[in-house]
Formats: sequence, C-alpha cells, structure tokens
Amino acid sequence: MKIIRTPHSITVWSERLRREGVTIGLVPTMGALHDGHRSLIHAARLQCDALVVSIFVNPTQFSQTEDLSTYPRPITRDRALCREEGVDVCFEPTAPAMYPDGFQTTVTVPAIARRWEGTARPHHFAGVATVVTKLFGIVRPHLALFGQKDYQQAALVRRLVHDLSLGVAIQVRPTVRERDGLAMSSRNVYLSADERRVAPLLSQALQAGKQMIVGGILDAATIEQRMRQTVEQAPDMHVEYLAVCDPDSLEPLPVVVTRAVLLGAVRIGSIRLIDNLLVNRQAGKSRTTR
Ligand code: PAF
Repeated sequence: MKIIRTPHSITVWSERLRREGVTIGLVPTMGALHDGHRSLIHAARLQCDALVVSIFVNPTQFSQTEDLSTYPRPITRDRALCREEGVDVCFEPTAPAMYPDGFQTTVTVPAIARRWEGTARPHHFAGVATVVTKLFGIVRPHLALFGQKDYQQAALVRRLVHDLSLGVAIQVRPTVRERDGLAMSSRNVYLSADERRVAPLLSQALQAGKQMIVGGILDAATIEQRMRQTVEQAPDMHVEYLAVCDPDSLEPLPVVVTRAVLLGAVRIGSIRLIDNLLVNRQAGKSRTTR
C-alpha cells in the first residue's frame, strides 16, 4: 500500500490509471477507522480496480468550540486496517496542502444544509461540501462511498455531485451498529461507561418510531413524541432533534405517506450522537440502513 501525501502526486497517479482504463474508488474519511469504515472499504474493494482511502481531519468542518485538536488520530492502526482491506493508496494530505495560502472557495448546498445538523453546526456542511469537492478534484475517482450514518451529509454529497456535474458515482452504504444498536462512530470512544450504557436509546427511539409507522400510526407529531419519550428515559440524554422527514429533501413531514427518514441527534454530557432510519411503507416493509 502506498501512502501519498501531496495532492499533485495522487492526481498524477490517478490520471495515469484512468488513461489505462482502471476504475478508481474513493472512501473519504477523517481516520479513526472503525467497522463502519471497514464495510465501506470492503464494498469499494469489490467494485473498483484501484482503491484510495483519504485520511484527513478537515479543519473547516469543525467550529471553534468543537474537538479538532483532540479528534482521535490513530494513524498506525488506520493504515493497518487499510492494508488488511487491500487498499492501494492512503491519501494523507496536510491542511496547508489542502488549503494553501490564497484558498478562498467555499461550496455550499444551502437547502439541504439548513436544518438538523446544520442548525447545531452552522459552518459544518460548507466545510464538508468544500473538502469533498476538492477530494474529488484531486483523486478523480469513478466511485465514492459514504455511510448512511451521516444521512444529511450523504444527501448533500449526492446533491452537489449532481448540481456541479462532477461525474462521480455516489454509493451510500448501511450503518454498521454495535450489538446493542448503537451506530458506530469515531466519537463513540469519548463516551464514559455510564454514557455508553444509555447511548443505544437513540437507535431504540428510531426503532420505536419505525414500529409505529409500520403499525399504521402516521402522524409525525405522535411519532416524534414517542421517540422523545424513549430517549428521555435516561435523564442525562438531551434531545436536539427527533424528526420525521422526507428522505430526499429532509424537510419535516406532517404525516407519513410512503417513505420517510427518521433523523435524531442527542447530547449526553459533551458528546453528540446522531442516527437515522429509513422507513418505506410502500414496500410493505421498512428498510433499516446505515
Ligand atoms: O464523514 C466524514 O468522515 C467527513 O465528513 C468526510 C466526508 C471525510 C469529509 O471530511
């Protein structure tokens, strides 16, 4: 496995392979890789001739009060996981290489970024949209894979690729969960033992919402109230949002007709957890994805 640090070097590498007809896959990450990332890398490996994992803790998607300086960076372990999964290149740029002096462009996707995570983290999605656009320009992949755990992020990436005609196929893969339902996340390592014990209440709340929809209770306010009650069994868990939304626009739905996404964010102590669940009544069953 190669480790490439400069944008220019990986573009040269990628362009050479593209000329030879090789298909290139990209899994963009901020490192601290877990089994959710592993499943993305594994799926990419099966579909692409050459596979790049980018590891870049992108400063522009963190606010002043967030955990940029303490974000976990276990680079030796991350590289080992990439080697095990047959990754061809780990792209590990520095921040000055990605944002050199004079950098001034920002990509925004205002309607998708406005609500939910966008309310709690107002600059986050502009940082994500800009770095993802830049990674696509540098690595020039045919296919890029994202986890459904960050549902709003995935919707935003799909939108910007379509709007800017970037020519990258986007695949969103199911959330990988711990045995008790907690969605895997690089930030789960911050949870204390007590916080970890109650953390699965978020996924349980979404499951409760799904069961209501499957059972024919379609009024969003009623579903949201039940989800909130589930989370609030733990006095230390604070709901930021629990919402029944249109899966494409992410706008709130008053009533579920066919498809919905249940979106949730809670705070336990200083940790925020997010999760989501897709529900499809039309198929006669609901589908649980990442
Ligand atoms: O999901 C992430 O890890 C990041 O938001 C991403 C897509 C790698 C952009 O920095």
